[in-house]
Amino acid sequence: MKKIVEGKIELEITTELKKDEFYNPAMSIVRDLNILVTSSLKSENSKYLDLLSSIGANALRIKKEVEIEVVANDISKNAIERLKKNAKNNKIEIEILNEDAKNLKIDEKFDFIDIDPFGSPIKFLPYIIKFLKKGTILSLTATDTSTLFGLKELTCLRRYGIKCSKTDFYRELGIRNLITATIFLFSKFNILSIPIFGYSEKHFVKVYFKIDKGKTKVNNYLEKNINFLSYCKNCLNREIGIKEFCNCGSKFTHFFPYFISEYVDKELLEKMEKELENRDYLPNYKKIKKIINMLKNENLKIPWYFDLHEIARKNKLQCIKKEKIIERLKKRYYASECFLESKAIRTEANIYEILSEIKNIMGP
Ligand SMILES: C[S@@+](CC[C@H](N)C(=O)[O-])C[C@H]1O[C@@H](n2cnc3c(N)ncnc32)[C@H](O)[C@@H]1O
Ligand SMILES: [Zn+2]
Repeated sequence: MKKIVEGKIELEITTELKKDEFYNPAMSIVRDLNILVTSSLKSENSKYLDLLSSIGANALRIKKEVEIEVVANDISKNAIERLKKNAKNNKIEIEILNEDAKNLKIDEKFDFIDIDPFGSPIKFLPYIIKFLKKGTILSLTATDTSTLFGLKELTCLRRYGIKCSKTDFYRELGIRNLITATIFLFSKFNILSIPIFGYSEKHFVKVYFKIDKGKTKVNNYLEKNINFLSYCKNCLNREIGIKEFCNCGSKFTHFFPYFISEYVDKELLEKMEKELENRDYLPNYKKIKKIINMLKNENLKIPWYFDLHEIARKNKLQCIKKEKIIERLKKRYYASECFLESKAIRTEANIYEILSEIKNIMGP
């Protein structure tokens, strides 16, 4: 047994590698983001459901650091015993349940629902529909990244209903795939899930959604925000919509459905920034500050980034500093760094314009 501190709580965790008393310190950034999103959007009587709480790292932190009512649930008896001890040691009171998330019998709606499973959250979504109301904030974490990133094409088609493939902008694809699949799952029930914040690093994808209801709203949202993506594996060119042949002569690979709009709500971002000011105790304070600052200047209406290392590798070129390329592109286009990938840029310029700038910088 060992004691660790995360945020404002102390957790007793087992040192045995038992999967059912799960605690992963590397995911503290996800819990920090949960604190910021929830505190930014909470109201006086908000109620939070942590559907898969394990030993309570997230549920207890939400109660302590955001000060709203929390219900925590996990199927594992051991995890729930540990959660109860952790709640007692921290003098925190939350409602604790020990059920299969698929059979939860609570007769109320929640303002916030967090789903953080091993792997994909998608299979839990049908079971939480009864807890959703207009305005519910749904927080999903996925760790099946090889599937979401387009490396396991058939698994992605089966699990998420999306046809896609390997790209140089795989983190962007992963976030957008989780968004698309969630939107389509709920759309069958006339529920609209609008993404309001997305992030990915290491082996996870995180997206927050705001729930709305009504079939016309869903229809209009789908019409505006879902399209095909044509991607050329030969030259890395990409276009929204369906086109058969790329300018390089190769056949485009088609991804569908693809979410083409922005997934970070700028108003929420401002609120998160304000919340962060008073929370320099957060374990990932500096990292999140950097992410927020980058997002303020990034245009996520451009639904991809370009990986400069991959462009250099494909074209047998020396890798040029991204700052130089951004500076040159900015004279004619929108161009910026990318909050998801340090060696990438986000720009409205196409691959040929980027290549021509790289060649100009390199000289004859
Ligand atoms: C990744 S852990 C959750 C970690 C936690 N959110 C945190 O921040 O530390 C996933 C948890 O889901 C639980 N779980 C898996 N299937 C479940 C089910 N059908 N119903 C309820 N809990 C389940 C597991 O016991 C495990 O504790
Ligand atoms: Zn091409």
